[in-house]
Amino acid sequence: MTILHIDSSARTQGSVTRDLTTDIVAKLGGDVIRRDLIEALPQITESWVNANFTPADDRDAAQRDTLALSDSLVDELKAADIIVIGTPVYNFGIPAALKAWVDLVARAGLTFKYSETGPVGLLEGKRAIIAVATGGTAVGSEIDFATGHLKHVLGFIGIHDVEVIAADRVMAQGEEAVKDAKAEIERLAA
Ligand SMILES: Cc1cc2nc3c(=O)[nH]c(=O)nc-3n(C[C@H](O)[C@H](O)[C@H](O)COP(=O)(O)O)c2cc1C
Repeated sequence: MTILHIDSSARTQGSVTRDLTTDIVAKLGGDVIRRDLIEALPQITESWVNANFTPADDRDAAQRDTLALSDSLVDELKAADIIVIGTPVYNFGIPAALKAWVDLVARAGLTFKYSETGPVGLLEGKRAIIAVATGGTAVGSEIDFATGHLKHVLGFIGIHDVEVIAADRVMAQGEEAVKDAKAEIERLAA
């Protein structure tokens, strides 16, 4: 089994989500592909969009080069059986670093396609686990624009089996929130 382990907290010290994803990956076991978004990904640009919308066979060398990083991020996703994503809630959404990753992996023809009945995800048979931490926002509440967004994006590219492990309202609940999340990890099936 191959796990794609993604972290998106800006913190390397004291990060709740990094602590949780480390535990999840250890609990599941398997080969690990690491994508730590502390090494920031570029945002998509006009030339990236134009290259992406140029049919693959018609792309010139510069366009292929522009898409190379995105291609390798898609390859990492395709190689994984389970995607473990650590995400803090930043300003009610996912961190910009994680949004940059989303923009680079949502690729028509690679991770989804357009059909007569609408878009269809192409990454079937995968499972995702999202470890989310918040200071005061209740996960799943109407002001949590992170969890629902990420679940929807994963479904859009074909990943419908998504579990959320939440250490939410850490400022209010303190260690209890983290303890509850860790108990959920213990119950995770491999
Ligand atoms: C820039 C920034 C924005 C944040 N925005 C929110 C927010 O909108 N809602 C919330 O509940 N917590 C917010 N927090 C608190 C974090 O979600 C919380 O500290 C979480 O534990 C961070 O994840 P980490 O521990 O993995 O770094 C914010 C923290 C930072 C640094």
